Amino acid sequence: MGPSFPPNTPQFASASIATGRGLFIVIEGIDGTGKSTQAQRLGEWLASQGHEVVLSREPTAGPWGKKVRESAATGRLSPENELQYFLNDRRQHVEELIAPSLAAGKVVILDRYYFSTMAYQGARGFDPTEIRRKNEEFAPVPDLLLIMDLDVDAALERIGARGDTANEFEKRENLERCREIFLSLKDESFVRVIDTRGTLDEVAARVREVVVRHLV
Ligand code: TYD
Repeated sequence: MGPSFPPNTPQFASASIATGRGLFIVIEGIDGTGKSTQAQRLGEWLASQGHEVVLSREPTAGPWGKKVRESAATGRLSPENELQYFLNDRRQHVEELIAPSLAAGKVVILDRYYFSTMAYQGARGFDPTEIRRKNEEFAPVPDLLLIMDLDVDAALERIGARGDTANEFEKRENLERCREIFLSLKDESFVRVIDTRGTLDEVAARVREVVVRHLV
């Protein structure tokens, strides 16, 4: 067996410098695809290769992010408020962390970003295209969007989702729609779909390969 990850290539450093700013990588996908673990592992690997890495996530721990997280326990917000809170949270994230880190030439890795708003609030009834437009008025488009993909049954199995039949059905339908919206982005130049079947190591190797290939 060969090495489990691609070697550090000189092209990597020059590609990121050539853009005149850092490198912006976003990891998305429905719950249960292993997105957060892979974001973490990619961050560790890039740091081990000598890059200055900023790993962050949405919703953030800021005031707006906190409100949406709390709503998961205390009752869901109205669709309009929920959408607005995610936008407020992101605006603050862009201003305080994302934009300054990229300007300083760092590698920024995000676990969820506005593609999650397209998917989840899209599944709640808003037009994903319109959500995208609103976000791109203030949120920078990533250099690379990795969509962690898995069929919904396998994703539900991984998160051990149970509950009564009606709830599970509802959740399944919702995740199906979210997955569909994520996959509708697959042909865009900055998007790569990652098959998340297999072990964490196998998926991590796929992620690294895609990142290195993007930079060569
Ligand atoms: P998640 O990453 O799953 O956080 P945690 O692991 O702490 O639960 O995100 C929480 C939920 O928020 C997730 O179900 C997706 C949802 N979400 C949206 O609905 N819209 C958004 O814009 C974002 C960023 C997340």
